[in-house]
Amino acid sequence: HRRIVILISGRGSNMQTLVQACREQDWPAGIAAVISNRADAPGLAWASGQGIATAAVPHRDYPTREAFDTALAEEIDRHAPDVVILAGFMRVLTPGFVRRYAGRLVNIHPSLLPAFPGLHTHAQALATGVQAHGCTVHFVTPVLDHGPVIAQGVVPVLAGDTAETLADRVLEVEHEVFPLAVRWLVEGRARLGEEGRVEVEGVARRLVVW
Ligand code: GAR
Repeated sequence: HRRIVILISGRGSNMQTLVQACREQDWPAGIAAVISNRADAPGLAWASGQGIATAAVPHRDYPTREAFDTALAEEIDRHAPDVVILAGFMRVLTPGFVRRYAGRLVNIHPSLLPAFPGLHTHAQALATGVQAHGCTVHFVTPVLDHGPVIAQGVVPVLAGDTAETLADRVLEVEHEVFPLAVRWLVEGRARLGEEGRVEVEGVARRLVVW
C-alpha cells in the first residue's frame, strides 16, 4: 500500500478528485496527508472533513524559499510518502526540494506544456490564439513547469471564450487526466527513466480529449 501526500494552495478540486478516485477505484494507495502553504485554503477544510490528516506550513513564516522548503519537507516526511502530488500548489520549489523527491514528485499544470509555463495560462492561450489548450501532468524537475510528461488533456478554444470559460473547460479535463496519471504512478507503472523519459507500462495512449 503506497502513501500519497498532496500539496495544495487553494480550492483543491483536483485534490478532491484524487481522494475520490483513490477510494472508489480501490487504488493500492491511500492519502496520507493534505498539506497547504495557506492555513485558510478551502481544500484543507474539505480534506479534514473527510478524516484525512492535514497540515499548514505558511510560507510567510519563513524568511527564504530554502527555509520554507525545509519546513515543508519535514512536514511531508512525517507522513512517509511514496509519492508527493502538487495539486494546485502555487509556490516555486527549490532545486534541493525537487531533488529530495526526484521521480516521485508530480504536478498538474493548466496548459499543454511546454506552451505557457507560469501563471495566467488561459489568458496567455487566448492572447496567442492557439486553438487547442489543456493540461499536463508531469514529473517535477528543477526547471519550473518543464518536467517530463506523464499525460495530457486537450480541449478546444471556442469562439467567445474568456479566460474563465476556458479555465472551466480545462478544469473538466484536469479532473479526468489527473486521477489516471496518479494511478499509473502509485501502481508503479509510470516511471521516470534514466534519460528523463517517462515510461508507462501497458499504456499506449496518454492523452485525454475533451
Ligand atoms: C488548477 O487549474 C491547476 O492546474 C492549477 O491551479 C488550479 C488549482 O485548482 N495549477 C497551477 O497553476 C500550478 N502552477 P484546484 O485547487 O481546484 O485543484
